[in-house]
Amino acid sequence: MTKIFAHRGSAGTHPENTMAAFKEAERIGADGIELDVHLTKDNQIAVIHDKTVDRTTNGTGDVGIHTLEELKKLDAGSHYAKKFNEETIPALTDVFSWMQGNTLELNIELKNVTVDYPGFEERLLEEIQRFELKDRIIFSSFNHDSLKKINELDSEIECAILYLEKLYKPWEYAKTLGAKGLHPHHPNTSEDMVKEAQRQGFPVRVYTINDEKVLEKFIRAGCEAIITDYPEKALQIRKRI
Ligand code: G3P
Ligand code: CA
Repeated sequence: MTKIFAHRGSAGTHPENTMAAFKEAERIGADGIELDVHLTKDNQIAVIHDKTVDRTTNGTGDVGIHTLEELKKLDAGSHYAKKFNEETIPALTDVFSWMQGNTLELNIELKNVTVDYPGFEERLLEEIQRFELKDRIIFSSFNHDSLKKINELDSEIECAILYLEKLYKPWEYAKTLGAKGLHPHHPNTSEDMVKEAQRQGFPVRVYTINDEKVLEKFIRAGCEAIITDYPEKALQIRKRI
């Protein structure tokens, strides 16, 4: 059965990458969540999509110039709706603590694409080890060097290549990095590619699908998972077909 992953939490109905969004995903029965991470000035891992805090909080500047304590004082919910003004930027460890009480899978997307975070991969692995969450984590990134590095540090955690354009035999490329999964962009993905990849032993989690017809198409194609801003809608479709 195709799993439903809540993109940035339930970003269609809640402020992205906040505990409110993640708890909503759990409430409706999603199978997993996807979130984005950056490194703070004091080497902590913050859950936020952009390189800067400007779009999603009432603060300004790069995530990396702030300490976690400073970031936690920002309002990360009002940009979506006033009633979420108590939401803050979670530390990845806040999410890990909350995961002790559920069975959700977690796709962590490393956002070190236009910014360098020395020691980022090591810090992520340290925290995962501390919370004993290895089996429930999938790393993904557009930064394939980082995925290769994670695989070299700990090959037990699944790394999945995130990519936008079509790739020729993406599973062959993934193997060169030690990656074991594929996260393609849905407009450049065919049902045949999904089936062949999975026949080759590479789970495919397609992002970010919000349209009903496209959700149905990829659920029918038997993807490992679908990453969506509207997990509740996707779960209803999965139940119906
Ligand atoms: O993981 C898939 C998707 O989240 C990648 O794009 O910009 O939403 O992080 P973005
Ligand atoms: Ca993401």
